[in-house]
Amino acid sequence: MTEQSDNSANAMWGGRFAAGPDAIMEAINASIGFDKRLYAQDIRGSRAHAAMLAAQGIISPNDEKAIGEGLLTVLSEIEAGDFPFKTALEDIHMNVESRLKEIIGEPAGRLHTARSRNDQVATDFRLWVRDQADAVIAGLEQLIRAALSQAEKGADWVMPGFTHLQTAQPVTWGHHMMAYVEMFGRDKSRFEDARKRMNESPLGAAALAGTSFPIDRHATAEALGFDRPMANSLDAVSDRDFALEFLSSAAICAVHLSRLAEELVIWSSAQFRFVTLSDRFSTGSSIMPQKKNPDAAELIRAKIGRILGAAVALFVVMKGLPLAYSKDMQEDKEQVFDAADNLMLALAAMSGMLTDLTANRDKLEAAAGSGFSTATDLADWLVREAGLPFRDAHHVTGTLVAMAEKQGIDLPDLTLDEMQSVNPAITQDIFTVLGVHNSVASRQSYGGTAPDQVRKQIARWKDILA
Ligand code: ARG
Repeated sequence: MTEQSDNSANAMWGGRFAAGPDAIMEAINASIGFDKRLYAQDIRGSRAHAAMLAAQGIISPNDEKAIGEGLLTVLSEIEAGDFPFKTALEDIHMNVESRLKEIIGEPAGRLHTARSRNDQVATDFRLWVRDQADAVIAGLEQLIRAALSQAEKGADWVMPGFTHLQTAQPVTWGHHMMAYVEMFGRDKSRFEDARKRMNESPLGAAALAGTSFPIDRHATAEALGFDRPMANSLDAVSDRDFALEFLSSAAICAVHLSRLAEELVIWSSAQFRFVTLSDRFSTGSSIMPQKKNPDAAELIRAKIGRILGAAVALFVVMKGLPLAYSKDMQEDKEQVFDAADNLMLALAAMSGMLTDLTANRDKLEAAAGSGFSTATDLADWLVREAGLPFRDAHHVTGTLVAMAEKQGIDLPDLTLDEMQSVNPAITQDIFTVLGVHNSVASRQSYGGTAPDQVRKQIARWKDILA
């Protein structure tokens, strides 16, 4: 047996109801527990709506004044932490309106003219997601700056480049950092694009069909900083693609963060020692005194799980919903709130870690030369200087790698005689391409790892961010 929370019908919509809802009904229906986060957007939207209603002669200037001032009182009560949020009032919209009525009386009842909670929540949520997009864009910019300064510091520091996590060819630290600058740059532009598309106002779409009152949707759109009103009232109240786009962009960004986090975990290990994380972004072990753990990186690596989870959850909620509004859509908010909070935290933690991080130049350089990392340079030399077809050069190089491996040495440690025994066209000049610095300096193709090229990209990014 469940109990009714209250015998009386809902004050906002209970006209046709003889009894109040069952407690379980109230529990499943209420969103105030989480949508109270929309209070500022809700009050902003209501003030714009009331001002428009008065300007259009739909409510009196006196009512508008009372509503506007009353809403500011509600705002300060919420911000002071002494607003009595009530589950029985379901959501932020009805909590605010009900309190407004307590404060100003009868005029409060006129606020909801030519409006529905359907366009109201769509407006509030767009405003909230828009603010978050701005915050994420700023967070990404900070992260890009952190990666950029790492790149600048070590533009010509050599390190191994990997494929399959096997040493492939030497690259520069700057080049590796700039790869993430590019990724985070695209993430930023994804949020900027999403922001542009979401910046249309649903307000005035009313329940679904528009309204017979002579409202001015362009005025409310402008007052709320939207570019224009949405052009179809059914679409305005029923789509959440702006939230899906935010979550999708967040998931892609979280993938990038996760990959960098994984590299930091590997690089900071005793086996690699490519980087040293600052004490500020590491933790110790309660049993092993020697340990310094990359927990922040690990947690950032994991954030993709919940962020992608949020995206999947909302995709599934939205699929198959007939137009227009359905209560299913109330499930949009917690997913977006959680994803946004965690993305912001991950961005801030990654910025902090990157800013503080020390790349160990000597370790990077020592590792850059091991694992036959300049084998491609040797093959390229055979093509360029000895006229061998690339496939033959590849074979000769493979033979030389096997020869060095057998002796437990690296390619530059083979003697000229040994090399010539495999191919007589090889001369002393071969040694100029075998060093890791020569190798990276030769990769001058656009977007290549040569320090000159890396510095060009750093300069381009500095211009973009200036
Ligand atoms: N709390 C609701 C939500 O978040 C507000 C809209 C309610 N609309 C309705 N027709 N019941 O979706």
